Amino acid sequence: MEKLLIRGGKRLKGKVMISGAKNAAVAVIPAALLTDELCIIENLPYIDDVMVLADILTALGAKVDLLPTGRITVKADRIESVKADHEMVKRMRASYYLLGALLGRFGKAEVAFPGGCEIGARPIDQHIKGFKALGAEVEIDHGMVRVHADKLVGNEIYLDVVSVGATINIMLAAVLAEGTTTIVNAAKEPEVVDTANFLNCMGARVKGAGTDVIKIKGVEKLSGCEYAIIPDRIEAGTFMIAAAATCGDVVIGGVIPKHLEAVSAKLLEMGMDVAEGDDFVRVKGIERPRKANIKTLPYPGFPTDLQQPMSVLLSVADGTSIITENIFESRYKHIEEIRKMGANLTVEGRVAVIEGVKRLTAAPVIATDLRAGAALVVAGLMAEGVTEIFNIKYLDRGYEKFEQKLISLGADMRRIDDNVSELNVKRAIANY
Ligand code: EPZ
Repeated sequence: MEKLLIRGGKRLKGKVMISGAKNAAVAVIPAALLTDELCIIENLPYIDDVMVLADILTALGAKVDLLPTGRITVKADRIESVKADHEMVKRMRASYYLLGALLGRFGKAEVAFPGGCEIGARPIDQHIKGFKALGAEVEIDHGMVRVHADKLVGNEIYLDVVSVGATINIMLAAVLAEGTTTIVNAAKEPEVVDTANFLNCMGARVKGAGTDVIKIKGVEKLSGCEYAIIPDRIEAGTFMIAAAATCGDVVIGGVIPKHLEAVSAKLLEMGMDVAEGDDFVRVKGIERPRKANIKTLPYPGFPTDLQQPMSVLLSVADGTSIITENIFESRYKHIEEIRKMGANLTVEGRVAVIEGVKRLTAAPVIATDLRAGAALVVAGLMAEGVTEIFNIKYLDRGYEKFEQKLISLGADMRRIDDNVSELNVKRAIANY
């Protein structure tokens, strides 16, 4: 395994271009299975989750070509299997979209139950509720979710919880069904809209994506298409928070500012200078951010995926801040790690109370999940001393060229192999 060494205190300055959205990519790529014609998808982030998904589609029999430039071609005209086993799913949690895509195209699918992860139970009961409403039979045994339907027929589906995954998975299963499907209480995330736009580019008839009622009129067949996915609002927000945390001045380019409104509003409330252009936002930090309260909510509320990086910024704010994590039940595993760096936080259930301190100090810390890793990088960028972050494989899942982008903004950091002996690590830190 590898680790990151970060010497804190450098103000990030300059311009960074944001990659394509991971959470759109992991939905749009499986959607290409819904046709036997060639699909070309551009602006994908070249990250582990995308590479693994390309391998999974290849294993199913699709002809897949993924380039480091973020362009993929998929031709699913010779699918030999509708089974994504444990080995595959273990590598890529969002493989559950294969259920909707394969069910929609072939009337059957077998995908290992994704199970929980570091941030919560992550059930898929609403996905299953949707498949059953469309006429599919669903059984779960030996850790596999098996779905099959002689015929998929449109229906009205009310989601008990606002779920990005369930909304997208039901869309994937419904586009070739007979008749109309209505998803009520649908998620409104930009990644849902992006997937709907891709499906419509293939000839689907999806209306209302981005609102809480989505209507899908089933069609006979879908065709191939060329499409470019949206930029990653969570990567963009991470860089906005990092710019604020280092009292820097950074232009975050290649974004859709509307997707970042909740983050921009919060940083303005904390005293940062945030300016917007057509396809960029500019964030200038201040010495001591003002305290603020955060409630994570479905889009367009404050995104849960930025709660962890934001908690680090709030840990050095002037005053006491309160975070309420309304989406996932255990998304505070990073708190233990930033406490090692001097942060003063207490967590009670879904609420974190953060007493701002003057400055964090470097410490060896461990990333427990993707966005916790991002939070620790933000902490290392602003802490006094050299922070060592272990378990950075999580970062490679969701951030393309993360450290290269930060170094281009002036961050003083580098990645070292974990097989370097402890003594040499100490030497590396001392000489660093
Ligand atoms: C997507 O996860 C994202 N992942 C998550 O990003 C993101 O945090 C989340 O949406 C919320 O925005 C991908 O898009 C691959 P949900 P998803 O279904 O679809 C509960 C990241 O860091 N729920 O909207 O799994 C669920 O437990 C990741 O990039 C059910 O109860 O999230 C959660 O409490 C982390 N039953 C809430 O709904 C279900 O059937 C929202 O989950 C489905 C979900």
